[in-house]
Amino acid sequence: MKIILSPSILAADFNALGKQINMIEEAGVSYLHIDVMDGHYVPGISFGTPVIKSIRRNSNLVFDVHLMVEEPIRMLEDYKNAGADIITVHAEACSDLMATVNRIKSMGLKAGVSLNPGTGLDRLDPVLNSIDMVLIMSVEPGAGGQAFIPSALQKIRDLKEKAEKAGAAIDIEVDGGIRPDNVMNVLMAGANVIVSGTSIFHGDIMENVNNYNKKFKEFEEIIRESI
Ligand code: DX5
Ligand code: ZN
Repeated sequence: MKIILSPSILAADFNALGKQINMIEEAGVSYLHIDVMDGHYVPGISFGTPVIKSIRRNSNLVFDVHLMVEEPIRMLEDYKNAGADIITVHAEACSDLMATVNRIKSMGLKAGVSLNPGTGLDRLDPVLNSIDMVLIMSVEPGAGGQAFIPSALQKIRDLKEKAEKAGAAIDIEVDGGIRPDNVMNVLMAGANVIVSGTSIFHGDIMENVNNYNKKFKEFEEIIRESI
């Protein structure tokens, strides 16, 4: 599986959002993680479709939209029209998860399902063979800058095994508290899409992306040598 970095704009300087996204693109990154919070599913409100529409005009990155929203099925079309390429919904927030996933797929987008730290992998059972990605939260959703919850590592391993058994070719994305100094553990556990807000947008963006790329290379070398 290809390793992908997905920088979360939640940690960006919104006064310079366009410029910072351009820097991400110049650094050779292909994904952009877009955290939408509705003030219901999570306490805070971040931003919605007007912001996504604006940045879509300025960027060719894959828009990896993480909807921390109650009953996202109500607004999937709006997010597609705003420019989403991948839409991830929370299993806990959907009264009909299968219908929500089917709606995303029928719009021609990639579908992801996210699980909070306390939510078991069994919640994926009905949809595992219909989705493109699972997003394992390694912090409680709602805010950037929190510490990585170590139990996420075993959950990633278990998910990898579960997906392999089910013959589901999914990406495993992990979100929250990841930094260059702990990303190796996340990759070793089996994740391949790495979300990072604080450790990309705080400080020098180019340097931060390069620090991740170095770790990704190191990991790929370890894997190559072990084969
Ligand atoms: C948390 C968000 C994350 C968060 C990650 O609710 O889903 O994407 O912004 O940020 P850091 O990397 O700062 O933990
Ligand atoms: Zn996120």
